[in-house]
Order: sequence, then C-alpha cells, then structure tokens
Amino acid sequence: MGLLNGRTAVITGGAQGLGYAVAEAFVREGANVVLGDLNAKGVVTAAENLGVGPRAYGLPCDVTKEDNVDELISAAKDRFGSVDVMVNNAGITRDATMRKMTSDEFDQVITVHLKGCWLGTRAASRVMREQDTGGSIINVSSISGKVGMIGQTNYSAAKAGIVGLTKAAAKEVGFARVRVNAIQPGLIRTPMTDGMREDVMAAKLAEVPMGRAGEPSEVASVVLFLASDMSSYVTGTVLEIAGGRHI
Ligand SMILES: NC(=O)c1ccc[n+]([C@@H]2O[C@H](COP(=O)([O-])OP(=O)(O)OC[C@H]3O[C@@H](n4cnc5c(N)ncnc54)[C@H](O)[C@@H]3O)[C@@H](O)[C@H]2O)c1
Repeated sequence: MGLLNGRTAVITGGAQGLGYAVAEAFVREGANVVLGDLNAKGVVTAAENLGVGPRAYGLPCDVTKEDNVDELISAAKDRFGSVDVMVNNAGITRDATMRKMTSDEFDQVITVHLKGCWLGTRAASRVMREQDTGGSIINVSSISGKVGMIGQTNYSAAKAGIVGLTKAAAKEVGFARVRVNAIQPGLIRTPMTDGMREDVMAAKLAEVPMGRAGEPSEVASVVLFLASDMSSYVTGTVLEIAGGRHI
C-alpha cells in the first residue's frame, strides 16, 4: 500500500527539476499525477517518462494565467475524480542587483511565484473543500525567502510572500480538512542551479553545515511527507530542506 494510493496530485513546473522528482516520488507511492508546465513539449514527455501510462498526464500551463491554472485543476478532477494534493512549484529566476534589475524582471518573478502560487492554492482548495477527505497543498518557497539574497530582491520577496500566503490560506481552509504548508529548499542540484558559476556555487556550499548540495529526491521525500497522511495534523508550517544552511 503506497502512501498516496488512489490519490490525485497536481504539480506545476513538473517537466523537470524538483517538480519532476516530486512526481516520481508520488507515482511510486501510488498517486495519479497531473503535471502542468510552460514547457508544452517537455511536460508531455515528462509524464510519459514516469512510466505509469494513464496514471500520469502532462499538459501545458502557464501559472500566471488564471484560466490555465483553473483548467489544470479541472483536468485532474475530470480525469481522476478528485484533487487531493497540489504542489505549487513552478518558478524562474531573474537575478540582478537592484541597480541593474528592470521593473519587468521584478514583475516576472513576483507574478510566476507569488501570483502563480496564489492561483494554484485558490483553484485547488476550491475543489478540495468540497471533498469529504479535504486535501494537502504544498507551496515551494526557498531559503531565499527566509534570508535575503544579494541579486534576488525579486525572488526573495516572492518566496517570503509565499510563506504569508501559505499561513493565511491554512487558516481559511483548515476547517474543511485542507492543509497548506510550504517548503524552503536550500541549494539543490537541478537545471535551475546547474548554470551557476563555480565560484558562486563554492561560496554557497561553504555556508552549508552538511557540506553538500541537496538532491531533488531529498526535497521530494519531504513533499511526500506533507502530501500524505503522515502529516495529517500539520498545517501552516514551513519546512527547511537546506542541509542546515542559514539556521
Ligand atoms: N533548485 C534549487 O536550488 C531551489 C532552491 C529553492 C527553491 N527552489 C524552487 O523550486 C522550484 C523548482 O525549481 P527547480 O530548481 O526545479 O527549477 P527548474 O528551472 O529546473 O524547473 C522549473 C520548472 O518550472 C517551469 N515554469 C517556469 N515558469 C512557469 C510558468 N509560468 N508556468 C508553468 N511552469 C513554469 C519551467 O518550465 C520548469 O520546468 C522553483 O519554485 C524554485 O524557485 C529551487
């Protein structure tokens, strides 16, 4: 018996990186998964690569677009009959110091992370609150939302905002057995961090008590915990997955 047997999970930004690793962990535990991603081709391939046939479905979705997010949730409900888990994971970076950052770069990052997360939380909780079994929403913040990072005034603001959103939403929907939690990954090896300059990576690693970067599967197992009944009395919390960085 898997931890998510028969449940349906929606994961944004599921075509690669952390979102894909979460999908792998979820299907292993018996879930049906619906992946949404801006990368239209990549998300279909990702769903196929999970190797569970019709239990995984990928469709194009831009989390900044209200109708796209609503359609993603509807697709999951229509196909599998429920939406039990929602992972708001899609993200981008547009790093630059304030001197160089354009207001467009600020807006893009706030919109994808903060508004995307709000749209996903709202759409998923709308379905979950009508289900007897409720549901679990996991929002992907970052350790950059706990401590400010140079070059990330946009990203740190968005990721800190996700914490406030998570706590407020948890209070609103707790009565309906809908739990809302956030995670704050530190330095994790994904395509997002692969392009990082070696000296920057070394400086960041020097701040990690565990002395290494994290693997996507180590984030996925914490998301699995929050998604499953193992965390049935946990809501409104923020779990750090950062090897002790910035404690
Ligand atoms: N990798 C890390 O070290 C790290 C650390 C902390 C937090 N995070 C967060 O984890 C999440 C996943 O990051 P990752 O490292 O896997 O990045 P990634 O770049 O590998 O994957 C992000 C995915 O999101 C998709 N995406 C981007 N904009 C989108 C949009 N508007 N609508 C739908 N999909 C969109 C991309 O196409 C991509 O598939 C992000 O929210 C990121 O901020 C990552």
